[in-house]
Amino acid sequence: MALWGGRFSGETRSEVAKYSESISFDQRLYKHDIMGSIAHVTMLAKQGIIPEASAEAIRTELKNILGRIEKGDFTYDIALEDIHMHIESALIGVLGDEGARVHSGRSRNDQVALDVRLYLRDAASEIIDGIREMQRALVLKASEHPRQIMPGFTHLQHAQVVLFAHHMLAYVEMFDRDAARLADCRKRFNVSPLGSGAIAGSTLALDREFVAELLNFDGVTRNSMDAVADRDFMIEFLSALAIFGVHCSRLSEDLILWCGQEFDFIELDDAFCTGSSLMPQKKNPDVCELTRGKTARFTGALNALLTMCKGLPLTYNRDLQEDKVALFDAIDTAMQILAVYPPMVATMTLKGANMEKAASDPALMATDLAEALVGLGVPFRTAHHRVGSLVKYCKEKGKQLDEISLEEMRITIPEATEEFPRMFDPRASVAKRNLTGGTGFDAVASQLKFWQEKLK
Ligand code: ARG
Repeated sequence: MALWGGRFSGETRSEVAKYSESISFDQRLYKHDIMGSIAHVTMLAKQGIIPEASAEAIRTELKNILGRIEKGDFTYDIALEDIHMHIESALIGVLGDEGARVHSGRSRNDQVALDVRLYLRDAASEIIDGIREMQRALVLKASEHPRQIMPGFTHLQHAQVVLFAHHMLAYVEMFDRDAARLADCRKRFNVSPLGSGAIAGSTLALDREFVAELLNFDGVTRNSMDAVADRDFMIEFLSALAIFGVHCSRLSEDLILWCGQEFDFIELDDAFCTGSSLMPQKKNPDVCELTRGKTARFTGALNALLTMCKGLPLTYNRDLQEDKVALFDAIDTAMQILAVYPPMVATMTLKGANMEKAASDPALMATDLAEALVGLGVPFRTAHHRVGSLVKYCKEKGKQLDEISLEEMRITIPEATEEFPRMFDPRASVAKRNLTGGTGFDAVASQLKFWQEKLK
């Protein structure tokens, strides 16, 4: 008989038991469920709601159950639906009526809200740690090649010369915001919903603040109806992961392009690639491609939660059981990405000469010429037009920008000084961009130092 079976005379149809179980995916909440129950019974005894001896017996048995689950010595049965009922019925199985006191003043509605918050607290910390490792790998790669130049792209066209380190550090910035978003949403969800009961709180003299303190929460939820209906914290968490996924996917796309023959800027270590079953010459960037593919799961999970919640009347509805399927898949995916990506970045090798060659196209310095004109007092639009005419002139003559004399240059840029024909050195171009956030050698060196310090 199910723990809620009192008012029922018929059994659950077997297909329905299969349809409605969540033990197959919520069993991973066991540790947090047990933690929550230990705090709950400790409070119940302190408040005189249950005898201290019962609380003691329950705590001891919960720890036994924890040990059994961790040893793999615990049987799951879909008839018991979810992790909450598995643990409660194991407790009652050993302690009988003594164990049956555990659920006083509690519902699975506030219990599941509690368990997921506790679980997410740990998951957020693990993911943040993983993101830090990701940042460290990128900073390491940048610091190995602090002066390597490459073309920077806009519209996937060569735009201006940048430092490879600057490109890596752009991702370090993105991942930093991701970590900050996770930490920020953790602050908001780190409040205890326990004591909200099924919907309306409890008639028992529960001490919610005491439970919150035992479980290291920053406080308690203020509204019992909100507390059991709310999945905002999962939505926020998933939106942080979805943005993180976008960053991983963009990085993957850059690396995929860079190791293709058209770019040929990097080589990924063999350990992160596979070959083709047909074409013997192939070495494919699978980890990058899979990351680009897998990150779609985050967007999917976020969408699932938003869609699941948007039409729900208050408060708890069974629909919400499905939240964990999406949430756990997203967490697992994030952890998988974070396990493979940092070592892949750390072991990739640069083809510096190819980057250098691509960055040496004098056209990449066209903006420098226009800015030099601005320095001479020419309005920028005029300067832009002059240099554009020079580019056109060179195209017509079939020459590169750095292949013409000063006299020729003055046909389209009358203000050109002797320095102008010498402005096509890509390193000199980089060296001039030392403003904060720029790609100059000194600016990037100080960004690198900042991150090395911060990620120590
Ligand atoms: N397995 C359920 C879930 O994950 C636990 C809460 C069930 N509550 C209920 N009233 N049936 O959402």
